[in-house]
Amino acid sequence: MKSVLFTRFFILLPWILIVIIMLDVDTRKPAPPLTPRPYFSPYAVGRGGARLPLRRSGPAHGTQKRNQSRPQPQPEPQLPTIYAITPTYSRPVQKAELTRLANTFRQVAQLHWILVEDAAARSELVSRFLARAGLPSTHLHVPTPRRYKRPGLPRATEQRNAGLAWLRQRHQHQRAQPGVLFFADDDNTYSLELFQEMRTTRKVSVWPVGLVGGRRYERPLVENGKVVGWYTGWRADRPFAIDMAGFAVSLQVILSNPKAVFKRRGSQPGMQESDFLKQITTVEELEPKANNCTKVLVWHTRTEKVNLANEPKYRLDTVKIEV
Ligand code: UGA
Ligand code: MN
Repeated sequence: MKSVLFTRFFILLPWILIVIIMLDVDTRKPAPPLTPRPYFSPYAVGRGGARLPLRRSGPAHGTQKRNQSRPQPQPEPQLPTIYAITPTYSRPVQKAELTRLANTFRQVAQLHWILVEDAAARSELVSRFLARAGLPSTHLHVPTPRRYKRPGLPRATEQRNAGLAWLRQRHQHQRAQPGVLFFADDDNTYSLELFQEMRTTRKVSVWPVGLVGGRRYERPLVENGKVVGWYTGWRADRPFAIDMAGFAVSLQVILSNPKAVFKRRGSQPGMQESDFLKQITTVEELEPKANNCTKVLVWHTRTEKVNLANEPKYRLDTVKIEV
């Protein structure tokens, strides 16, 4: 009985081998590319990396079985989403500022723009603008109480908090996706390299800011990869002597510190950043970016107030144009 089985096995063996070889030859055919576009590193910026990351499509139906004998492709690391919170308010240059900003953001992979209007309602101008911006975005609004609209008082406190609340709400029930939060004022100038740097933020990262604090730049001072002080022309005694444009926070840190917000009460002018960072991190923990904080990749530019002295009071133009 045993020997019968044995001979049958040897008769079948060549056939089994032939089938295996044929299947193997089939799988060696070059697999169709996952997408028609070439792959670019999502971490790179510029021509390639600036594109939206390619979708990670699984094997198409029918090819699944055939691919089984091949080594399984390693899952790509998920590209962290950059959430940019931008407070904005109505003024003659608003659309111009937002246009510059969108032109930058559109070149950054996996960026979600949280635009928060300082207004009692979402304006038509911003709604129309966002609808055509070609960016994943969320449009929020919250008015700054009148009593806080005074020179010398911090700006955009309520708007940044509204952005934070939205972010926390959105990620309330799902497992935290990798993400990085950045406060992007609407009038600053952002290099694409900046987004590449902040994308790898583990907790809180920092970098220099150009044209700020009455100096050409301010920057965190770094020794042996750690922040040890601040190069600044204004109140160097602040625990975190840094502008809003000089740091990013991981989504994880935002979610695990649900009470961290920008405060009106007790907050002195220019202390907003420091007061916020104090709630979520320590100076020792900060991650220096931009080549140990030696490169300026963002500028605290300010747009001059426009001169509208020649606007007509009557004899208006025959058409109504949005500017
Ligand atoms: C500096 C800091 O860089 C800001 O991050 C900080 O919010 C601000 O001071 C402050 O005083 O609190 P600065 O250029 O003086 O920035 O401020 P703006 O650019 O005028 O305002 C910062 C952001 O708040 C902008 O995105 C702006 O559109 C928005 N904003 C300003 C409002 O939403 N409402 C306002 O009434 C004024
Ligand atoms: Mn500004």
